[in-house]
Amino acid sequence: MSETKFKDIARQIEQRIDEGVYPPNAKLPPHRELAADLDTTPATISKAYKLLAEMNRVESFVGRGTFVVGESQLNQAIQPAESDAQFNFSILQPYVSKNLASLRSAYQKASMSFSPELLAYTDHSGHLSHREAGAIWAHRYGLSAATASNVLLTNGAQHALSLLIETLTQPGDVIAVEALTYPGILAIASLAGRQVIGVDMDNDGLIPSVLEEVLRSHKPKLVIAIPSHQNPTGITMPIQRRKAIAAIIEHSSAYLVEDDIYGFLNEATLPAICHWLPEKGIHISGLSKAISPAMRCGFVVAPDHLLPTLNAHIRANIWLASPINFIVAEQLISSGEAFSMAEAQRDIAKQRQTIAKDILGDVISKADGYHVWVTLPAHWQQERFVMEAKQRDLIVTSGSYFAAGDSHPNCIRLSLMSIKNNDALTQGLKELKSLLDSHVVSLAPF
Ligand SMILES: Cc1ncc(COP(=O)(O)O)c(C=O)c1O
Repeated sequence: MSETKFKDIARQIEQRIDEGVYPPNAKLPPHRELAADLDTTPATISKAYKLLAEMNRVESFVGRGTFVVGESQLNQAIQPAESDAQFNFSILQPYVSKNLASLRSAYQKASMSFSPELLAYTDHSGHLSHREAGAIWAHRYGLSAATASNVLLTNGAQHALSLLIETLTQPGDVIAVEALTYPGILAIASLAGRQVIGVDMDNDGLIPSVLEEVLRSHKPKLVIAIPSHQNPTGITMPIQRRKAIAAIIEHSSAYLVEDDIYGFLNEATLPAICHWLPEKGIHISGLSKAISPAMRCGFVVAPDHLLPTLNAHIRANIWLASPINFIVAEQLISSGEAFSMAEAQRDIAKQRQTIAKDILGDVISKADGYHVWVTLPAHWQQERFVMEAKQRDLIVTSGSYFAAGDSHPNCIRLSLMSIKNNDALTQGLKELKSLLDSHVVSLAPF
């Protein structure tokens, strides 16, 4: 074997990763198969995989094979705009300008309620009045069982997800997720060495019979579901489906983590799945999507028997989520202003969905939240489309970042909320539409 042969082969494999031939988290071909394909030997493939592992592009697991690293997925899925000229369809957040004045005055007012007790270390992981506010929020959007005594405060929903994954599973354990899911969940699982298995979905979300089969055959410790305005598909599980999923989990050995961060977008409140799982359901909500992600206010409602462990983990990791932000959360929730802000965001989302439907038509999913899931026409491959869009200053997210396991949807996700106004949104969507319809792609390299 020449000294550099394996480096050439590694470069070729890396190029395939960059081009999306092997998307994030995909299993790479077995050594022998790839060796035949690239006209080399299995030993060279082995050295190339080792080099790519050192470069953190792939990961190998004994007995399972070699996989494309998915860690950077989160960064790639959610990209900051590099200039004002760009149309950023990648960030799922509220239209924050709308909340600016309210938040400025709420933070000013909050500073007036600082007290020595609030500014000191505490012997608990969340002030009672702040947990009460969390219970009111969770209750308003579907979890009637929430009370101050079973609410925990976290630094946003992302912290809640990582807390629950780390607490309720061990390295090597299996976590069942929706076949297309929020990349933040995949990133935690990958960093923490948990295996994920994707559960197929239909138009109502997780398919009960498939979930049952996955629970039987893979024995996951945790099922994580996003029941409302699911990220990325936009699906909202109807009540019957929520009940069916709860009944299946009730009879299994798994816990449910219900990430209901978009629950406030439902026109009429839908009961959380956790409503039917008082002992096995853990519910996540928060203010990031309704008010501002910068507040980092997350609320976890958990069964009593899990509270001591979860509290201990919060204490050990962060002591407590900053009470300064939760003073604001409490003020906004108890005055009712938080609910008006959430409603205003829902109205903006509805308006923007109408604009998107008018321009993009049938290719978008049935959705009324912050984003749309677009099925690309057959002449487009998602990674190529994302690159071509970027060259036109349109930042969109490839469907591959959401795929848990082997599903490779030829889709992209578009957030409608981070573009500065409706005129800019209209312009950006029209440019996307013309790219979708065009068969002529530039010859620019990836
Ligand atoms: C489904 C889902 N869960 C959690 C989060 C993270 O929320 P937070 O900003 O509160 O950490 C996101 C953000 O996009 C999300 O889409």
